[in-house]
Amino acid sequence: MFRGKNIFHIAILTYLIFNLYKLNFCSIIRQVKYQSKTDKSLDNKRPTWTSRYSFILAAIGSAVGLGNIWRFPYVMGQNGGAVFLLAYVLFIVTICFIPLMTEILVGKKTKKDCVGAFELAKPELKYLGMLNPITAIIVPSFYFVIGGWIINYTYKSFIGFQNDNPIQYFSAFTQAPVITVASTLLFLFICIFFLARGVKKGIEFINNVMMPLLAIILVILVIASINLPNAYLGLEYIFKPDFSKVSGHMLLSALGQAFFTLSVGMGSLLTYGSYIKSDKNIVKSAYTIIFSSTTFSILAGMMIFPAVFSFGLEPDSGAGLVFVTLPKVFMQIPHGNIVACAFFILLFCAAITSGISMLEVPCATLVDRLKISRLKAGVILFCIIALITIPATLSFGLLKDFKLFDKTIFDLLDFTASNILLPLNTLFVCLIGGWFLKIRGELIFKNKFLISVFNIGLRYVVPIFLIGLFIIGLR
Ligand code: PFF
Repeated sequence: MFRGKNIFHIAILTYLIFNLYKLNFCSIIRQVKYQSKTDKSLDNKRPTWTSRYSFILAAIGSAVGLGNIWRFPYVMGQNGGAVFLLAYVLFIVTICFIPLMTEILVGKKTKKDCVGAFELAKPELKYLGMLNPITAIIVPSFYFVIGGWIINYTYKSFIGFQNDNPIQYFSAFTQAPVITVASTLLFLFICIFFLARGVKKGIEFINNVMMPLLAIILVILVIASINLPNAYLGLEYIFKPDFSKVSGHMLLSALGQAFFTLSVGMGSLLTYGSYIKSDKNIVKSAYTIIFSSTTFSILAGMMIFPAVFSFGLEPDSGAGLVFVTLPKVFMQIPHGNIVACAFFILLFCAAITSGISMLEVPCATLVDRLKISRLKAGVILFCIIALITIPATLSFGLLKDFKLFDKTIFDLLDFTASNILLPLNTLFVCLIGGWFLKIRGELIFKNKFLISVFNIGLRYVVPIFLIGLFIIGLR
């Protein structure tokens, strides 16, 4: 009996080992075949931007989004106004510049999607690379909820806010399941539609149309806002720092906001960077992206706060600033409907171009890894994101009492992405870029001092800083 059992075990073990061997052997052969195929043919087939400006515009389109126009003003309102702006700008030009540059350089150097780029550094690192497309599925799952709200508010501003009470309207609307889910899915569909059309016909096209439109609308709205009575109070709030408001929490919020608005930490810039032709220098592009994103944030503040102060409303009303406080302003100014329409179209353009840049990360991974068309990748992504975004949309209504770790699904997705995944991805891209792929300051600067600052920053300062931040952020 005992011997019989042993023979049985040995037989199973032999069978398992044989199968594992076969599996491993086959997968090695498949990998070798795949590798040579990727290296030879895929790089030639890889799409590229039409010009340097197409890349810059697309990267600005990615950077300027809800983070600048919806989130920045309200986080600034909650963190004391001008001091927050000062910290935000300071972080952007110091700490954030290095990961931003590194992401683009890693993409440009490897000409691969995030997983492929990390795999090229060391095969096992591809698992870390996968965290980027995963993050770029989680973030749209809550970001697109706001996208859906914007679609609805754009429609609402067309037909007029009439005498609706903005607070009641906002709370009733966000709790209505059918309309919110339908708008979120419509927003997702529009992003996927342009994504599936490809880098030139889809991403370049939409950025070429929407980014200038966005800049024009924003400038017009800023001019209108700063001409309101008592608008100077709002400008003072943005530009006159009150240093008594400096706190650890404020600094952390400013840093998180800086990373988010620059689109660092999700692989979007890496993926966009992989479509840059090799001979292009990207330093000027990086400066332009940083400058534009910061300018858009400041302009968003200059559009919102003078109007808010002019009508004696609260600047620190939180996430509802754009959906509750501003409609109050629109209802009181002449031609308020037209202004409201322009404002929500502006928000829509900003959200779409950023949304597309997020989805490009998993799309490129699916296309590169599975060798499927962008259309198929788009359909797969639509289904996956729809599954996650529907419960996130419902967390303001039907599922508002459903909590995991004491958070609604929307808040949990936001927390996991912003506090864990984005800093982790940024850390990994710096470590892998700096230590494995040998990204060096020499690739971008001529000045020796700048080269040393970049090299030390990339390999030591930023990673240590991010680890510290990560630990603080988790507590
Ligand atoms: N920068 C975008 C915004 O401010 O709304 C959000 C974003 C887009 C973050 C793409 C990350 C990303 F990869």
